[in-house]
Amino acid sequence: MKASALFRATFGVAPQAAASAPGRVNLIGEHTDYNGGPVLPIAIQARTTVAVGPADAGVLEIVSSRDGSLARIRYTTAFPPGWAAYVAGVMRELAALGAAPAGGGARVAVAGDVPVGAGLASSAALTVAGAKALAALAGARLVPRQFAGVAFRAEHDHVGVHCGVMDQTVAALAKPSHALLIECASGEARHIPFRGRLLLVDTGVRHALVAGALNERRAECEAAVTQLRLELPELDWLAAWPAMRVARLKRALPEPLRSRAVHVVEETARTRLAAELLARGRLKRFGELLYESHESCRRLYQCSAPELDLVVAAAKRAGALGARLTGAGWGGAVLVLVDRRCEARAVVAIRRAFARAYGREPAFSVVKASGGMRKESVR
Ligand code: GLA
Repeated sequence: MKASALFRATFGVAPQAAASAPGRVNLIGEHTDYNGGPVLPIAIQARTTVAVGPADAGVLEIVSSRDGSLARIRYTTAFPPGWAAYVAGVMRELAALGAAPAGGGARVAVAGDVPVGAGLASSAALTVAGAKALAALAGARLVPRQFAGVAFRAEHDHVGVHCGVMDQTVAALAKPSHALLIECASGEARHIPFRGRLLLVDTGVRHALVAGALNERRAECEAAVTQLRLELPELDWLAAWPAMRVARLKRALPEPLRSRAVHVVEETARTRLAAELLARGRLKRFGELLYESHESCRRLYQCSAPELDLVVAAAKRAGALGARLTGAGWGGAVLVLVDRRCEARAVVAIRRAFARAYGREPAFSVVKASGGMRKESVR
């Protein structure tokens, strides 16, 4: 059911504003965002739509097409559990900007097709769409970067997932047929035409502890920065460590901090090179960097899973241009860059290898670089 129809069915009146935002696939630059490095995501076709209307002061009444049950929350005094927390975080952040609906109350209906837990940033689709719809209800005007900021702080500061800024930024700023190079330390963003053909292979593996694992990696990266400051006192971010000085970094850090830091520094260099290659249409060399990135995630950052590794290996044997896990990892989906010649062969090879190993099939889809958040009709 669509968000505005769900709103009507639940509350018996029409919503007053609605907005949607996309999920994303990160082409390259994994676990670099919260380390001040670059990322290169695209927005995908799957979107989350949020329809909103007024409610009593300080009250959120929220319903989602996923479970259909209605929750009524006094979110200013009690922070709700589950996905409602993301919307409550958005309300608190909008209020801080003077951009929340009058009295800070709202009715909210959520619907969409961004799979949850697949590494496709469903939470950012929800927070960005929610922020856009709620600000429209309040009659507040924010620029896209402010929406990204509200959504990021909702997830990071209120829900407590130590994510970076990639997901919310691409959900707010993406353009169709373009990838977005985001330099996360400066916030600088550049649209780069993306003409590759991408398959998404969802392994169906859902790691319930992704948020915990992400927080643990982030803590390791912070510990690495603290130690590296003994070598380079002005180091702000792990990604700012000079790529030429990896040998020195290795000497300075014990495991596992060493492996985590080498991944971040090398992934940073790889991502900037990948963006240049993409801008020049050199997809073959670009694809090789995807394989390298996966290997680094597997071996150094240790955020892969056997199912993801199997898909990447099968894609490589079948001649795909590149493949890697996308998103936080520990489960979720693999992106496979193909051309017309190898596409059918890659699909068959991955399906066969996966079925042989796990007795079931992964889900395939074709992803296209799509647009960012937008207002939706309330009819
Ligand atoms: C999650 C986070 C992102 C990013 C990725 C890893 O998706 O939400 O900010 O850190 O993991 O690249």
